[in-house]
Amino acid sequence: MRRKIVAGNWKMNKTITEGLSLIEAIKTGAPKVQKEGVDIIVAPTYVMLSEAVKATAGSSVKVAAQNCHQEESGAYTGEISTSMVKAIGAEYIIIGHSERRQYFNETSASIAKKINSTLAKGLIPIYCNGEVKEEREAGKHFEVVKRQMNDELFHLSAEEVKKVVIAYEPVWAIGTGLTASPDQAQEIHAYLRQLLTDKYGAAVAEEISILYGGSCKPDNAKEIFSKKDVDGGLIGGAALKAEDFLGIVAAF
Ligand code: PGA
Repeated sequence: MRRKIVAGNWKMNKTITEGLSLIEAIKTGAPKVQKEGVDIIVAPTYVMLSEAVKATAGSSVKVAAQNCHQEESGAYTGEISTSMVKAIGAEYIIIGHSERRQYFNETSASIAKKINSTLAKGLIPIYCNGEVKEEREAGKHFEVVKRQMNDELFHLSAEEVKKVVIAYEPVWAIGTGLTASPDQAQEIHAYLRQLLTDKYGAAVAEEISILYGGSCKPDNAKEIFSKKDVDGGLIGGAALKAEDFLGIVAAF
């Protein structure tokens, strides 16, 4: 059974104090809106990852890092490894977010290695893909996500891929207020699941959660999440206020 997930990607927002009060508010509000089988994840910055793990201990809220380096250790100034994330006690790592691809030159090769390193530590990758505006306008979105899946994910075995959470995030919808329509989301999520089916078989494809990301808000989440192949959301802007984030959790 694939899990339903609402994950908040805080990006470069919130000091430790601000982040801890957001976590407190999410923890307090979650029992009122969180249905059975729905996971809540927060992804704060590295500097408060440890604090976030402590603050969420014993609650239904889980913690993700926003990125990692593919190597185990070494001369990589400013980077952190998957063992460090593991040692802190976070359970997930977001990998291949479009902002990492766009501003930090992440390539398919490094994304594939980061996924391997994350899985090797027993952590769960939240693997992001999606097309940019020009690609969508040229009708190339299927081709783009297919290439990304091939180059970044499909080297995994069936046992490994089952552990991955996929987040489809059309880049033109991230932080822009433009959202994929529920039908556009469903169309591409179904396509991603079909690619998984072709590669690994239907039983494996059915176990993988595919989240939607891109200007997801309390007022559009319900319709998007009601689609058959949409298993939740990776939320940016609306994850920074407890009320909005919990409003999205309540959409299930
Ligand atoms: P957004 O970001 O919700 O602010 O569009 C989504 C994301 O980047 O994960």
